[in-house]
Amino acid sequence: MKNKEKKEVLIVHKAESLEGVLEISGAKNSALPNIASTILTDKPVILQNLPELLDVKYMNSLLKAIGSKVEQIDEKTFVYSLKEPTSLCVDYEIVNKMRASILVLGAMLSRFGEAKIALPGGCPIGQRPIDLHIKALRKMGVSIDIEHGFVIAKGRPKGSHITFDKITVTGTENILMASVLAEGETIIENAALEPEVVDLANLLKKMGADIEWNWREGSRTIKIRGVQKLKGTAHKIIPDRIEAGTFAIMSALTKSKIILKNYPYNLLTYVHSILNKIGIHIIKTGNDTVIVKREKYLKPTYIETKEYPFFPTDLQAQVMTLLSTIDGLSLIKENIFENRFLHVPELIRLGACISTINNKVAIINGVKNLSGANVKATDLRASAAMVIAGLIAEGYTTIHNLHHLDRGYEKIDLKLSSLGANIERKAVPIKENMFE
Ligand code: UD1
Repeated sequence: MKNKEKKEVLIVHKAESLEGVLEISGAKNSALPNIASTILTDKPVILQNLPELLDVKYMNSLLKAIGSKVEQIDEKTFVYSLKEPTSLCVDYEIVNKMRASILVLGAMLSRFGEAKIALPGGCPIGQRPIDLHIKALRKMGVSIDIEHGFVIAKGRPKGSHITFDKITVTGTENILMASVLAEGETIIENAALEPEVVDLANLLKKMGADIEWNWREGSRTIKIRGVQKLKGTAHKIIPDRIEAGTFAIMSALTKSKIILKNYPYNLLTYVHSILNKIGIHIIKTGNDTVIVKREKYLKPTYIETKEYPFFPTDLQAQVMTLLSTIDGLSLIKENIFENRFLHVPELIRLGACISTINNKVAIINGVKNLSGANVKATDLRASAAMVIAGLIAEGYTTIHNLHHLDRGYEKIDLKLSSLGANIERKAVPIKENMFE
């Protein structure tokens, strides 16, 4: 009987002004490739500052399933050690939970010359194919067949000249991992410059990889000379710039007095320039702490998502929530994913006035207030947008489909409650026609 089952919802009440210290967690998108890279050595690798997220749990289970010893030292520190693999196959059950599972492909091939990984399925925000990963690995001499829903890859990658047709974050990470133990030199052109890719390259260098990359100058060319073996090391994951940006926007919208700690100021330069135009200023108060100041009247603006160093698609839903209540017309153009406006109908449910053109451009006509309603978290980042919207909407907002939120935001309800927000996680009976 379906209606006897329960599921969790988040009830978010309007918050007047929050106060306190919010600590930014380790970056999810850095944690996942860094965990995958521990496959590349038979020596232990210690990863610190890992966020406590479902996606990190999934990645840990994936590694255990192929034979890694995964040992937790404290809340945020794990030691990974893979002496001998027990399996070189990753099943659909795990890939289906987390698309980033495909990140182990490059590392498994690099070390063992073989991998069988279930193909990631569809994704709410777009098709997200892995054709560019496969094309690059084939160029490196790996034989790849797609059979019965699996990528079946055989052969050790060989040094090669790869030019990505399109900038891809996990694609660049996969090929980086595929090339560190490859015979000869690999050149990756049109590489992703995201700080999480740089963090992976830094960890690989600590493990003994020979990587030449002038990312500080914005170079999209990476040169890797394959080495025979990699060694163990310890590495601290960088702070999550998307969580940091989300909380900066939330702080401005709720007119709060929050100190944001472990704030990766230098990774958000472009986002800050856009927030400045709107009338929101991020003020450094220490090495890694900031506060957020806002002008009385915020201004509408035009934002376009683009690969790093420009405006991240992962902050698009949150900034749309911000623009929804700023008087005047704002425009957002989404350039990375083909279906990343799933939060628009949800914001409309809360009273926002937004229309879209071809799923590419959103026209936002700022309203005075949002009003609490039932909404669903349609994807990972959109779920944070719903929390922010809930904090400024009159009354209370009930957010359904929480698994997205728990995949990518560490204890967000507890973090916000510690600042005085009234947020409650509740198990409610599943009813027919309820949001799924
Ligand atoms: C990563 C991030 C995700 C972020 C995205 C864009 C992780 C774990 N996830 O996802 O949070 O939103 O970057 O910054 O780091 N594409 C292809 N073929 C491919 C690969 C990608 O067509 O083989 C397309 C995608 O469909 C998309 C674009 O390229 O339109 C960029 O995708 P990509 O950078 O690969 O995103 P992910 O690495 O999956």
